[in-house]
Amino acid sequence: MVKTLEWTDAGVRFIDQTKLPTEEVYVTCGTYQEVADAIYTMIVRGAPAIGVAAAMGVALGTRDANANSVSELRTQFDQICETLAATRPTAVNLFWAIRRMKNTFESISSQPMASIRSALIKEAQQMYLEDIAACEAMGRNGAVLLPKTGGVLTHCNAGALATCGYGTALGVIRSAVAQGSKINVYADETRPFLQGSRLTAWELNQDGIPTTVIADNMAGAMMKQGKIHAVIVGADRIAANGDVANKIGTYTVAILAKEHGIPFYVAAPWSTVDLATPNGDHIVIEQRASSEVTHFAGKQVAPTGIRVENPAFDVTPNKYVTAIITERGVAKPSYSESLQELGRKEPVPA
Ligand code: MRU
Repeated sequence: MVKTLEWTDAGVRFIDQTKLPTEEVYVTCGTYQEVADAIYTMIVRGAPAIGVAAAMGVALGTRDANANSVSELRTQFDQICETLAATRPTAVNLFWAIRRMKNTFESISSQPMASIRSALIKEAQQMYLEDIAACEAMGRNGAVLLPKTGGVLTHCNAGALATCGYGTALGVIRSAVAQGSKINVYADETRPFLQGSRLTAWELNQDGIPTTVIADNMAGAMMKQGKIHAVIVGADRIAANGDVANKIGTYTVAILAKEHGIPFYVAAPWSTVDLATPNGDHIVIEQRASSEVTHFAGKQVAPTGIRVENPAFDVTPNKYVTAIITERGVAKPSYSESLQELGRKEPVPA
């Protein structure tokens, strides 16, 4: 399995996802600002991976901060957290991870600087291990929901490249395949950043899982032709009522699935569930540069100066979601109750 990110003494090492699938290049970010930049420019992307990357960025920045006292270290720590939190607004995993780092700092703030620094590195590494375990548990919990044979559509990339383990939606697919299911994955291309054709297809190809790439506007036709038997996607934030923010285009796929009587599953770790956000209307949607839409592989494909909208995510209302697969179990409607119930369960240990 590809190592999407990892802690090294020299910094946080990432596979550069902007270069895939044609180049497999690794970059090491030696400062927290470089980690923040890697998140913003999507060298690393995908909600769980962003969370752990931010935690490692906080650990790195605090380790290397030039401070003479715990109070000076705390001032710099707050600044580091702020910089990393400002990178991308939608995936709640980012804020969840930074909150955990803040809680860790608070819990040992009376100790010497060296202890604080090493505790923060340990906490980030712990999140990494927990994410691997969460992927495996989601795979176990969700595999049974997928068809034994047939087509499964996914949108964006919710695989190893989006996590520290083998993925959320793709983890469930991998687990089903390992149990003998004969699945052909339909990977939506996922304009404008092409996470589906560049990343999902790359990962699944390496695993030998049969995969067909389609342009986003083909999903409805594939469903009508009976080629798709289930849809499974990841999430960037799941509100308390089960509304799901995920990559732009997910909403369209969910409506199409409903129209064709196809189950629509969401797989996400508990760190993506945001019980403090009552519903999808409260989720901030990231707007990205217009050049992502007006240019394709560096070539201009729209008139100079044309108005562009480029929301990176949309919100799928809970009524389109058949089930939400987490490492703690599978939530079914009504989500206001089932998510609260999962929230009371013990976290899955690393
Ligand atoms: O903009 P991205 O590539 O970070 O968006 C990623 C997605 O929307 C994924 O589907 C989501 O983060 C889940 S990843 C397990």
